[in-house]
Amino acid sequence: MSTRILGIESSCDETAAAVVADGREILSSVVASQMDIHRKYGGVVPELASREHLRQIVPVVREALAQAGLSFSDIDAIGVTQGPGLIGSLLVGMTYGNVPVNHLEGHVHAVFLEAHIERRTPALPAVCLIVSGGHTLLYYVEAKPGASSTLSPLEKNAGSTFTLNASSEARSPRIDGNQASCGFQFRRLGGTRDDAAGEAYDKVARLLALGYPGGPVIDQLATRATACGPAVSGAGSTWSPPEKDELHFGPVKIKGNSYDFSFSGIKTAVLYYLRAHPEFNAEIETRREALLQGCRKAADLLPLCSPQVLALISNFQSAVVNDLVTRTLAAASETGARTILVSGGVAANSALRETFQSRAATKGVNVFFPSRGLSTDNAAMIAAAAYSHLKAGDIASSDLNAEPNLRIA
Ligand code: KG4
Ligand code: ZN
Repeated sequence: MSTRILGIESSCDETAAAVVADGREILSSVVASQMDIHRKYGGVVPELASREHLRQIVPVVREALAQAGLSFSDIDAIGVTQGPGLIGSLLVGMTYGNVPVNHLEGHVHAVFLEAHIERRTPALPAVCLIVSGGHTLLYYVEAKPGASSTLSPLEKNAGSTFTLNASSEARSPRIDGNQASCGFQFRRLGGTRDDAAGEAYDKVARLLALGYPGGPVIDQLATRATACGPAVSGAGSTWSPPEKDELHFGPVKIKGNSYDFSFSGIKTAVLYYLRAHPEFNAEIETRREALLQGCRKAADLLPLCSPQVLALISNFQSAVVNDLVTRTLAAASETGARTILVSGGVAANSALRETFQSRAATKGVNVFFPSRGLSTDNAAMIAAAAYSHLKAGDIASSDLNAEPNLRIA
């Protein structure tokens, strides 16, 4: 008989519920987005978010159970996001659950849910990049002591072109991540010192009047720049010689920990560039009008973007993507991890996926992403994480509370 866990996620602006069997089979996954409510403010408004979670939570849970063909009495445990997140939003979900889950840990489980669907095996230890609207974090991930299965000889040899750092092998035997049923343990390698990567996408989209959230639209418009615009650098490639008056970004310089990130400078460069170029104001105003009329798709906005703006978007994206990939690959190389896990809303980005795949392949490192639906906030990942807590006997005490600043390491 399988263990069926209802997962609940309400840490930010998605009310989500899902049922997952044995931590890996998704029986249902329902996400009610509040995008339409927050869009006009260009970001999440905490008070509106918690009010909307209250409105949505009961129908969303009912729908998740109905889609799984189950009732409450068939559920073995309820996993719920304890933090990090908005306190008012977290509290709505917390009233339901008995297995508290760290939202960030949930994002890691999303990668394993997808790997299970694809019948792939991410080996641990791994380096994990969690990259969303609220977070940009790098972790070293191992199986918690007690994880049962080590890799088969065949899997051990996979990616053998990579020279394993001897000290890390001594520290962490390679484990089949799918079998790490007691969960993961994390060591924080670095994180953003200012804006999260998704936040930078959203802020640049706001400056250019490309709608909210900015990531998906910028992702699509950036692909049109190479076709329509002046010479721009494609994701993963080196910079092209700058066109006259075109905005190019150099590599992000970080003092101290080279696994830290900083994206606010890139956003500010866009802001100053637009201030110095009032000729863009007219098209920005036209797009603002179009957004108000409900034209929010990339295909609607594309004809309203000049080649220069498309080039700007593409260069912005290349700068962010190259920085994320370069630092993550360096972390994998230095820790000896042969696996990279990428999760969070920005993991849905096509340039990020392509750049990771192509640059990691040359180093014998395997990169794993969730599907786009599992990259952004969802409750299946929370149910999967709750399963590992349940197996480890780690369930809530009666004084369980929401933790807006919860960390995993
Ligand atoms: O994980 P998520 O759903 O919520 C947070 O925990 O923040 O991530 C949302 C973020 C937003 O900033 C959004 O612009 C970004 O992920 N995003 C993307 C893409 N899809 C969503 N960023 C770049 N490219 C995408 N395709
Ligand atoms: Zn998230």
